[in-house]
Amino acid sequence: MKNLIIVSIITLCFSTLIFESCKKKDTPAPAAQPTLYDSLGGSAMVADPANSGTQIEKGRLLIRNIIDSTIFVIAGDTAINGHFTVLLSEVGNGNLSGFQELSKNLTDFVAVGTGAKDYVYTGLDMVTAHNPATNPRMNDKADNSDMDAFEKDLFAGAAKAGVPASTPALISVGKIVESLRSKIVQN
Ligand code: HEM
Repeated sequence: MKNLIIVSIITLCFSTLIFESCKKKDTPAPAAQPTLYDSLGGSAMVADPANSGTQIEKGRLLIRNIIDSTIFVIAGDTAINGHFTVLLSEVGNGNLSGFQELSKNLTDFVAVGTGAKDYVYTGLDMVTAHNPATNPRMNDKADNSDMDAFEKDLFAGAAKAGVPASTPALISVGKIVESLRSKIVQN
């Protein structure tokens, strides 16, 4: 009788175990939450208008367009362009290598920061990049008014790239940018 009870308990345990493991396999994994990068276009591939015959993720293309427009707005903004003298003199001499590297680094930075999975940011960290002692391309430390000008120029650049200031994804990007103020402003 005692043996029968033990065998029944073991059988019950095994069948519960098998039932639970089968149940787990039948339950679909929860869908991943869409990222901010997804709302900027995500990883769908589209033709890259800047490099004919190649493709680029839709989210990256939009971010790159916003970044490039923003760099041009900054270049013409006397409130902030005094910090970019190295870049501006290169561009003035027809040398676009620094511009291309900055465009790539900023695009990677924003893409990764908004949740892109297929890129890696390989540039300097934000404190090092904005300290003239560690980045000779940064002319003088930034203060709060420089940061305000940068944010205004970012929204102006986005508008030029076809993204109005009221766009929810852009407002979220603006919040990420603002969260970096204490690293950028070192004055
Ligand atoms: C949250 C806001 C900002 C972000 C996310 C940002 C991001 C970056 C990144 C990713 C780089 C490239 C680093 C590298 O080359 O490894 C960079 C470079 C630079 N940033 Fe910023 N930045 C911000 C605000 C500012 C502000 C407010 C100023 C100026 C007052 C500024 C001035 C510069 C300069 C001068 C460079 C070097 C440009 C060059 O390569 O010639 N940044 N920044």
